[in-house]
Amino acid sequence: GRTWTGVGELCAEMKDKNVLIRGAAQAIRSVSKKMAFLVVRQTMSTVQCVLVVSKDVVSPQMVRFATSLSKESIVDVEGVISVPNEPIKGTTQQVEIQVRKLYCINRAVPNLPINIEDASRSEIEFKKAEDSGEQLVRVGQDTRLNHRVLDLRTPANQAIFEIQSQVEKVFRQFLESEGFHGIHTPKLIAGSSEGGAAVFKLDYKGQPACLAQSPQLHKQMTICGGFGRVFEVGPVFRAEDSYTHRHLCEFVGLDVEMEIKEHYFEVCDIVDRLFVAMFDHLNMNCSKELESINRQYPFQPLKYLPKTLRLTYDEGIQMLKEAGVETEPMGDLNTESEKKLGKLVSDKYNTDFYMLTRYPLGIRPFYTMPCYDNPAYSNSFDVFIRGEEIISGAQRVHLPELLTKRAEQCGIDVKTISTYIDSFRYGTPPHGGFGVGLERVVMLFCGLNNIRKSSLFPRDPQRLTP
Ligand code: 4AD
Repeated sequence: GRTWTGVGELCAEMKDKNVLIRGAAQAIRSVSKKMAFLVVRQTMSTVQCVLVVSKDVVSPQMVRFATSLSKESIVDVEGVISVPNEPIKGTTQQVEIQVRKLYCINRAVPNLPINIEDASRSEIEFKKAEDSGEQLVRVGQDTRLNHRVLDLRTPANQAIFEIQSQVEKVFRQFLESEGFHGIHTPKLIAGSSEGGAAVFKLDYKGQPACLAQSPQLHKQMTICGGFGRVFEVGPVFRAEDSYTHRHLCEFVGLDVEMEIKEHYFEVCDIVDRLFVAMFDHLNMNCSKELESINRQYPFQPLKYLPKTLRLTYDEGIQMLKEAGVETEPMGDLNTESEKKLGKLVSDKYNTDFYMLTRYPLGIRPFYTMPCYDNPAYSNSFDVFIRGEEIISGAQRVHLPELLTKRAEQCGIDVKTISTYIDSFRYGTPPHGGFGVGLERVVMLFCGLNNIRKSSLFPRDPQRLTP
């Protein structure tokens, strides 16, 4: 086979070398009948390819062929690396390819619904262009999502989904190194797994069924099954009926469940070490991706501490109170108060990543263990990035009588979860765990303003395609 070079690998040390690349024709500029420029893009990198008519190598027909290419057509370019004296504008690579051979592998239609260069610009660039009287096309979110395969080609999107892939990688690697087993639980289940109305109902061969709102019940049942520590990466379905910047109807859940020896803080310790390792990894290994996202969607790097800050719910409420924010007694914080608390914590403790523990029992799911010293509270926690929730977790009720009572108190039809409750009758160790929303982690680590930006093909109350 021939030797291929990645566009991102091209560098000045390759000067005078012959290379072969494949990519998309992002921009084509004809200078004269004898000269043309072609910008070729592969993932986040672009390079300028120069065609100049010369005896035996580049014919005028070849220049004409190059200028007739439609944008986004896939091309193979063979040529010699050169290093221009002037910096090259508009490409990531600072070397050029003096083209010797050019093949079109697959032609794109001439009128694309999205121009990749327009879709890659930051708001700052748009403002600047407008001020200087230039007419640029802003690409709206719906247009992007309607034509997602084109939108995904922008450098920021290439970077966002590399970050997503790295988050998942660290999640798996860290947990495996801590003795956790990877599992897969069923997504077709008989009753709702989290309670509440946000459940997709379906017909399972004549029997009522649901799409799993979380792996909650079955991940706990693997602990009943003798697996001491488990994790799962899988789809989670929520029939959300409000349209917000942070809710999807389908998202990727990163779930953990583990035996607890002495205290539910053992679960918090795993969260702490896992996420510090993840943030360290992203900062150390993904600087190119983070820069690329920052260019289009500027954000401040995440502030986090080597040991994650833990505050109790009551302490959080007190901080809000002191700042003049009243909340419902023993109630859930709304999005606005959570954001406000995030800001207060960030100012006081210099961290955008923290945990709230010991929530009131009344605002947690039925399977949550009440506090031993005061059953009005629970052995539970939420974790926040920049004042928005990415994780919720808790110790679970492993005592079948208490579990039945709690389910009834929470208005759950116990019959639909009887196999779950029965699982605890055969001896199960105390245990706890947590669930993370993958898209939320990526969105908030990268300071993005909408969860649709960190979901490849988002599913929300108004969108089921593409
Ligand atoms: O807070 P949730 O509903 O908790 C559970 O599912 C529990 N079973 C977890 C546990 O082990 N105790 O969901 C967990 C996380 C949230 O913190 C959030 O990051 C994400 O899942 N999440 C959503 N992400 C996108 N769209 C939605 N509609 C989400 N709902 C929850």
